[in-house]
Amino acid sequence: MENFHHFSPKWLDIAVDAAYEAGKVLKKYWGNLKEINHKSSSSDLVTEADKKSEQIILKILAKNFPGHRILAEESGLNNQISDFIWMVDPLDGTTNYTHQYPMVAVSIGLLYRQHSILGVIYNPIIEELFTGVKGLGAKLNGFPIHVSQVSSLNKSLLATGFSYDRSIRNDNNYVEFCHLTNLTQGVRRGGAAALDLAYVACGRLDGYWELGLKAWDIAAGAIIVSEAGGEVTDYDLSPLDFYSGRVLASNSHLHKIMSEKLFFKT
Ligand code: IPD
Ligand code: CA
Ligand code: CA
Repeated sequence: MENFHHFSPKWLDIAVDAAYEAGKVLKKYWGNLKEINHKSSSSDLVTEADKKSEQIILKILAKNFPGHRILAEESGLNNQISDFIWMVDPLDGTTNYTHQYPMVAVSIGLLYRQHSILGVIYNPIIEELFTGVKGLGAKLNGFPIHVSQVSSLNKSLLATGFSYDRSIRNDNNYVEFCHLTNLTQGVRRGGAAALDLAYVACGRLDGYWELGLKAWDIAAGAIIVSEAGGEVTDYDLSPLDFYSGRVLASNSHLHKIMSEKLFFKT
């Protein structure tokens, strides 16, 4: 089994290459979709773009990292045993994609023993590439990025999202959305969790929270935000659990107050 000494920051180049190749697929099908199918609900969509994008990423990762685990949204887990696990969302923001709303991305993250150590988020439509590597900072199109300095909620712009089972679950985030909307300059619902995190990292947003997510939605974004100087935890400030579905990310100044406001009902 591999240990951390095997990790090389050069792995970023391979992940970026995979994201660019996948991005070519997403550009090709942009506005040209023939197949849109439903998964868990009528709003949970999958297209040939999701599948083709995932195939190309998996091919590149499997070729370069044959011993690594890979968890990919459309094809599940491979059968390798490793402390390294790649988390692949071949198209984050599928609903946006089918409407040609350009908040879409490829998200590729690498965890080592449940800690995110490398992340790539690529929006091929507006050509923005966000990257982060543990200890080496975060970048947007090759330039270093940093979280915002906003330190009061009433000066902040936040984002959140709502999971596909929102109409049947009690904790659907609607009450929290209204509460935080009243306390801030606004709460956006971009529709692509990976980009919500990337936007916190580069200071366009001051914070983001959501529940009902999957590990592939947040694996890349978590390291990009923390390398940009932000904080990423569970709602109650405990360490992020990639499998809990809950994430609270911020520029760090707003972290505690956002956590408190998310528990205002109790
Ligand atoms: C979805 C998006 C959305 C979030 C959902 C995710 P998908 O991912 O990230 O913003 O609110 O919970 O499932 O299905 O477009 O890859
Ligand atoms: Ca996703
Ligand atoms: Ca997806």
